[in-house]
Amino acid sequence: MDNRSGIGVFDSGVGGLTVAAEIMDQLPKEKIIYFGDTARVPYGGKSKETVTRYTEQIIRFLLSKDVKALVVACNTMSALALDTVEKGLSIPIIGVIKPGAKTAVNTTRNGKIGVIATESTINSGLYPGYIKELDSTVEVVGKACPLLCPLVEEGMIEDPVTDEMVRRYLAVLKEKEIDTLILGCTHYPLLKNTIGRIIGDKVNLVNPAYETANGLKELLLSKGLLNDDNEVKEHEFYVSDSAKKFSAFASTILHKKNIRAKTVNIE
Ligand code: DGL
Repeated sequence: MDNRSGIGVFDSGVGGLTVAAEIMDQLPKEKIIYFGDTARVPYGGKSKETVTRYTEQIIRFLLSKDVKALVVACNTMSALALDTVEKGLSIPIIGVIKPGAKTAVNTTRNGKIGVIATESTINSGLYPGYIKELDSTVEVVGKACPLLCPLVEEGMIEDPVTDEMVRRYLAVLKEKEIDTLILGCTHYPLLKNTIGRIIGDKVNLVNPAYETANGLKELLLSKGLLNDDNEVKEHEFYVSDSAKKFSAFASTILHKKNIRAKTVNIE
């Protein structure tokens, strides 16, 4: 392993590609080795035990590749499993929750932050936990939005049904007059326009994908692991179910033709 080794980025499915896209943008010299657990997605309503077991299997698979750091691109895995799996790892690992929480605290002016995420992420209480550690006076309002992931996966990004669901989910956050909203699920940055239009332009949207890529850059820099060689990188993509559907989705999100994911069994 050296600074030309890859970055293992993983998620329960396709959503983590929003994080991979940010990493490609902010760290274009890094090679990404992506794993999406498309056979077992969604993780968003699963227990801590199950999510931790799945996360351990994914990490074992990625460690069999040449990786120098790991990015838990999934909010649910970051909330439920990161504290367990980071113990004993010999390479650095970063999740999406801490970077998102930190930016939200630095952004809010009225001290009222909203978090939208999967049920398991909201129930874990981790976003409010980190936010309160940084500033105990901040009020945090969480809202689980379980129907938004399937709508995104169905490609209903600009759709009246999605608009209606977003309106219903955000009503309570609007009532509380939050001024900052964390998009605490990998899929929600893809609904940024709809969410922004419905919550209103006085509310700042925090995209943990952006903050995580930034955090990764700082982490690699501090460990002397940034890649400075200009050789063109062939990213690698692995999934646990059909590679065809994933490859098509990935090509759209990453604006890259010819993405060919491989199906692997990590169990
Ligand atoms: N990747 C998950 C997250 O960010 C959303 C999809 C799922 O429920 O697995 O929480």
